[in-house]
Amino acid sequence: MSIFIGLEEIVESDYPLAKHTWYRLGGLADYFIRPKTVEQLKDVVRRCRDNKVRYGVIGAGSNLLVSDEGVRAAVIKLETEQFTQVSFDAGMATLVAGAGVDLRELVRTCAQKGLSGLEALTGIPGSVGGAVRMNAGGRFGDIGAAVEAVRLMDADGNVFEKGKPELIFDYRTTNITAQFILEARMRLTPAEPDQILRTIKEVWIYKENNQPPLNTRNSGCVFKNPRGVSAGVLIDRAGLKGLRIGGAVVSEKHANFIVAEKDCTSRDIIRLIEAIRQRVKEQFDIDLELELEIWR
Ligand code: EPU
Repeated sequence: MSIFIGLEEIVESDYPLAKHTWYRLGGLADYFIRPKTVEQLKDVVRRCRDNKVRYGVIGAGSNLLVSDEGVRAAVIKLETEQFTQVSFDAGMATLVAGAGVDLRELVRTCAQKGLSGLEALTGIPGSVGGAVRMNAGGRFGDIGAAVEAVRLMDADGNVFEKGKPELIFDYRTTNITAQFILEARMRLTPAEPDQILRTIKEVWIYKENNQPPLNTRNSGCVFKNPRGVSAGVLIDRAGLKGLRIGGAVVSEKHANFIVAEKDCTSRDIIRLIEAIRQRVKEQFDIDLELELEIWR
């Protein structure tokens, strides 16, 4: 702990990461840190670098698997007040949301305020920072379509903005290289709340019919769709729905989801991922790329 002297209030040691991931799996992080201000975040990063401690930022943990052994690193979560603010400029139909804002809450609030543009993100668990980082979305659209600019912090503690057209969003990726997204500015369109809610309902019903429910332990799609094909279709056609290793099972509802059942370990999921990759490679000669992030 000595490297974080004076920051005891925001630093915890040997911290179980499982409760911060949707899989509820994984071991300990050496440090778990919740900075209260950008200045504190800078201080934390500087100390990690000076002491050669690996560090990373965690969002809502909805697209993340932590290994059973945990990570020898400092894991930073931007969830304190300063990082969870949303401010609206109704006249301009824009908003600024902190990195730690809950995506589903943001979708709901926008609907209530009559601001359209985030409906496509209905039912996607995540933080604004995480969603922007990987351009979260699906067949109805992605977050990048609404984001106008982001405020970032690099590893040297420099805070700066990056806006369109320099800022580019692509399929499940962006050209943001700075380590920390602090906030995102989004441009929306005024619309009737009832109309927005109707769209939200449509997206919700689609997901309910086509994906395992949010109360099962899963991380959304495990693999990215290869160009022009659905990874789910490939895994399904390979006959892998229901395939189980330990407590990890390929969902019967959508083959690109791996559900963690009782006594599942991260190792079970990693082994199932390898098995799926191998079978899809053998059958279709396609290398599936992970969408899920794995921390070891
Ligand atoms: N399908 C099958 N078998 C399956 C799964 C799907 O035959 O096991 C068929 C469906 O019936 C449908 C087609 O494949 O005709 C496409 O399925 P879906 O609409 O679910 O689209 P997807 O390409 O598999 C993408 C995103 C999802 C997102 C959905 C809906 C990726 C890798 N997946 O899935 O995103 O929810 O569209 O918008 O981009 C995620 O990123 O975590 C995620 C779940």
